[in-house]
Amino acid sequence: MLDQIYRKAVLTVSGQKVVEDLVRSRGWGMAQRFVAGEDAASAIRAVQDLGRDGILGNLDLLGEFVASPEAANEFAGKVLHLLDEAHAAGLTPYVSVKLSSVGQGQTVEGEDLGLSNARRIVGRAREYGGFVCLDMEDHPRVDQTLAQFRLLVGEFGHAHVGTVLQSYLYRSEADRDSLDDLRPNLRIVKGAYLEPESVAMPDKADVDASYRRLVYAHMKAGNYVNVATHDESIIEDVKLFALAHGISKDAFEFQMLYGIRRDLQQDLARQGYRVRAYIPYGRDWYPYFSRRIAETPRNAVFVLRGMLKG
Ligand code: FDA
Repeated sequence: MLDQIYRKAVLTVSGQKVVEDLVRSRGWGMAQRFVAGEDAASAIRAVQDLGRDGILGNLDLLGEFVASPEAANEFAGKVLHLLDEAHAAGLTPYVSVKLSSVGQGQTVEGEDLGLSNARRIVGRAREYGGFVCLDMEDHPRVDQTLAQFRLLVGEFGHAHVGTVLQSYLYRSEADRDSLDDLRPNLRIVKGAYLEPESVAMPDKADVDASYRRLVYAHMKAGNYVNVATHDESIIEDVKLFALAHGISKDAFEFQMLYGIRRDLQQDLARQGYRVRAYIPYGRDWYPYFSRRIAETPRNAVFVLRGMLKG
């Protein structure tokens, strides 16, 4: 319960314009703990560095809802450029995209712009043998994101596009069942947005239990699972579950955020598990940074200390 109160307080305060302006003006140095840099080249370098420890990368150009088709197309152009750059650097590109950043919800020529831009992005990733994960945003976007995911899997195959389910949403287990026919590649997360109790479980113990159920059900169904959490007890349980059910290490991977629990990422990689770090980069770091602060008071202390140092 205290976790929830803390999370809500941080997400509410960080939504205030005055707080945003203050943190934006003083915070880039601190944000760099969680953000790989401002351009694609820095993010690609971060993937290469992690690769030396046997850790894979998932590149994320930071950006959320954009209001105009021009801005959405410009953002999509940057993601395409990222795919080109990653490929040119000898990587198999793996990127995450928020559909709201490429125009989801805006209709252009009779089609949702988020979908048409996602088509361009997934198509380009497929040319390079790469992969695109459609991040999950706040709950009003879930229906459309899952419907668009379904279309994209139909067009490009499940080896090139995946999406995310959030265990805090009551609906996620039913969503997982409804996607099973696609043999979908799913990332399971707890959920990072400020959601009302009518749609999201208020109690952390319930969110954790739902998390385990989602991962186990997806593994048992024989689908690829991205176990995206820093929760060591869940990670241990998933390892045991896989062993007990004869699920091989290449049927799932652990995913964590760049700059968080690097020790655990390295340990798992050494144990022969596939590990992928989510590597955000770009200038629009504030909303991402706020959600990381909301996840643990330790990060808030880190930021306050940094601000006091001036
Ligand atoms: P939990 O919050 O229970 O924490 C478990 C342990 O990890 C605790 O000890 C905690 O202190 C530590 N920890 C967690 N977060 C930390 C942080 N920021 N800094 C330091 N320590 C931390 N969400 C979403 O809504 N849509 C999405 O698409 C994604 N995508 C995504 C990708 C990947 C690769 C990850 C790892 C996470 C996401 N998330 C997400 C975020 C996710 O929903 C969730 O908010 C965070 O992962 C934190 O929850 P944990 O599962 O780590 O557990």
